[in-house]
Amino acid sequence: MSKVTVVGAGNVGATCANVLAFHEVADEVVMLDVKEGVSEGKAMDMMQTAQSLGFDTNIIGCTNDYEKTANSDVVVITSGIPRKPGMTREELIGVNAGIVKSVAQNILKFSPNAILVVISNPMDTMTYLSLKTLGLPKNRIIGMGGMLDSSRFKYFLSQAIGCNANEVDGLVIGGHGDTTMIPLARLATYKGMPVSNFLSEEELQKVVADTMVGGATLTKFLGTSAWYAPGASGAYVVESIIHDQKKMIPCSVYLEGEYGENDICCGVPVILGKNGIEKIVELPLNDDEKAKFAASAAAVRKTNGALKEVGAL
Ligand code: 2OP
Repeated sequence: MSKVTVVGAGNVGATCANVLAFHEVADEVVMLDVKEGVSEGKAMDMMQTAQSLGFDTNIIGCTNDYEKTANSDVVVITSGIPRKPGMTREELIGVNAGIVKSVAQNILKFSPNAILVVISNPMDTMTYLSLKTLGLPKNRIIGMGGMLDSSRFKYFLSQAIGCNANEVDGLVIGGHGDTTMIPLARLATYKGMPVSNFLSEEELQKVVADTMVGGATLTKFLGTSAWYAPGASGAYVVESIIHDQKKMIPCSVYLEGEYGENDICCGVPVILGKNGIEKIVELPLNDDEKAKFAASAAAVRKTNGALKEVGAL
């Protein structure tokens, strides 16, 4: 039996659980939240869609009862507060670091072999905190940011080209921040052809800029951070692990020399399978992209430095 736990049944966590169930990614999906009744209610509501949507996944909701999460194969952590309009993801560190750390510790008591997928923001730093405090091998701690940012990149590319988003391919690497992410326009393609065949340099630059503030744009519209794409992106990452699909997905992972960086979690393409991170893929970046990656890593490292200030490390 395959089992996935989603911690945090807010907008992102509940959407992730819903997609996991609808796509029958696991036999059982457990949602856990600190707010009394929220997970139970959302789980019951989702289970009542099983016939209309035609899925057989069992969804269980619980309030802070970690025993119910026991023996999960993959655990998605969405706990913490989302950003409000005008806030950066980095500003959430003071509140979210303590929450993420204690959630991850509780999870491992009951699922010592689980692979962790971190969504809570600031995502690269929360992934790094988990890696530094839990003592797990690096293949079992994965930050979901690049998948989301790449989905937004492909969306904006398809809108600019006027084509189907599924026919566009592209990657976003670097930190999951408004100024740190790096949409790789040079390597993006539409049906195998460089997107520069279809878009002017100016149009491409606009796509890149829109992608970088993609989350902030939605936060402004919604009054809180987005959830459909973040939740679905989390589920996509989980699916590649649970079903051993070996998809190449940009994720925040611990780097030991790859891309010239050490002692940091930052977004790079990885192969995700049953062992979590099965391979870090080294892209042939040009000098400009390499410089951008170094600057992005420096910014992520600066945010990581705040973990000591807030007493989380
Ligand atoms: C976003 O970019 C929540 O960080 C997430 O929407």
